[in-house]
Amino acid sequence: MSGVGGGVGEARDASRFDDDWLGLRERADARARDAGLTRAAAEWLAVHEAPYTLVDLGSGTGSNMRFLAPWLPAPQRWRLVDQDADLLVQARADPAVPLDHVGREPAAELVCRSLAPFDGKLLDGARLVVASALLDLVSGDWLDALVAACAARRQALLVTLSVDGGWGFLDPDGAPVETATDRAVRNLFRAHQGGDKGFGAALGPAAPERLSQALERSGYRVATASSPWRLPAGDGRWRRLSMRLLEGWRDAALERDGRGGDWIRTWHARRREAVAAGRLGLFVGHRDLFAVPRGEMGR
Ligand SMILES: C[S@@+](CC[C@H](N)C(=O)[O-])C[C@H]1O[C@@H](n2cnc3c(N)ncnc32)[C@H](O)[C@@H]1O
Repeated sequence: MSGVGGGVGEARDASRFDDDWLGLRERADARARDAGLTRAAAEWLAVHEAPYTLVDLGSGTGSNMRFLAPWLPAPQRWRLVDQDADLLVQARADPAVPLDHVGREPAAELVCRSLAPFDGKLLDGARLVVASALLDLVSGDWLDALVAACAARRQALLVTLSVDGGWGFLDPDGAPVETATDRAVRNLFRAHQGGDKGFGAALGPAAPERLSQALERSGYRVATASSPWRLPAGDGRWRRLSMRLLEGWRDAALERDGRGGDWIRTWHARRREAVAAGRLGLFVGHRDLFAVPRGEMGR
């Protein structure tokens, strides 16, 4: 791809994600995730019978499994579902072999197919349903179908790194910096997030709240936490990720702009220069969620 996202910055082709972008974000994702919710998921799994079967929806190259496997009880069986065969193939071939906490490689079944329309059979046999950086792409109807399928199977959900709509710039002390032009670009970007990403009209940053409400209505106990990326000014480790984010924001805003876009290109050039010079860092807001059916153990 093309776009950068799970949905931040995702712009050109709404449903394709390139492995470079997924690779760039993996380290930032690992640092950002809420450890308490990950532990709660591990504790919840541990009171059930092994093997522990998990389904990862929109798995991409398998970064969710690589992160979670060492935290969760073993033995694990993963079902990775994604429509992009090129990404799934890399999940199989990745040299950074994911290990569970006793050092064994989890078993992984790769399922290459679209998640839309939602098919509850994908969840059969699973204890825990996980997804990361997916939620902003989906529609309200799709979320309702997911929740109904999980509730019918008494499954827990760990849905991480869902964008909350907040993003912007940080000064060298880590304080937010914002101009009217930043706000104008962000508004265009948000309008872009509501387009169809293959699931119907996308919920974008409204998705985390919508998921919480649907789960609570269906008898779940829901815990959420913030899991932002903070990419400090002048920290070279995040330079490429920051540049990709800026490009994605620019391209999404250009698609929605009715004024020819020169002001967006100028904005991008200035922000790019400030980030490259170490005068600005970036932040992107996310939410993590862990939910268990009421009456079952969990946080
Ligand atoms: C932002 S990426 C996140 C990938 C992975 N979960 C991660 O955290 O690195 C979104 C993923 O959803 C997949 N995806 C998007 N639309 C899909 C659909 N309709 N059916 C199946 N997978 C889809 C993409 O191929 C991509 O791998």
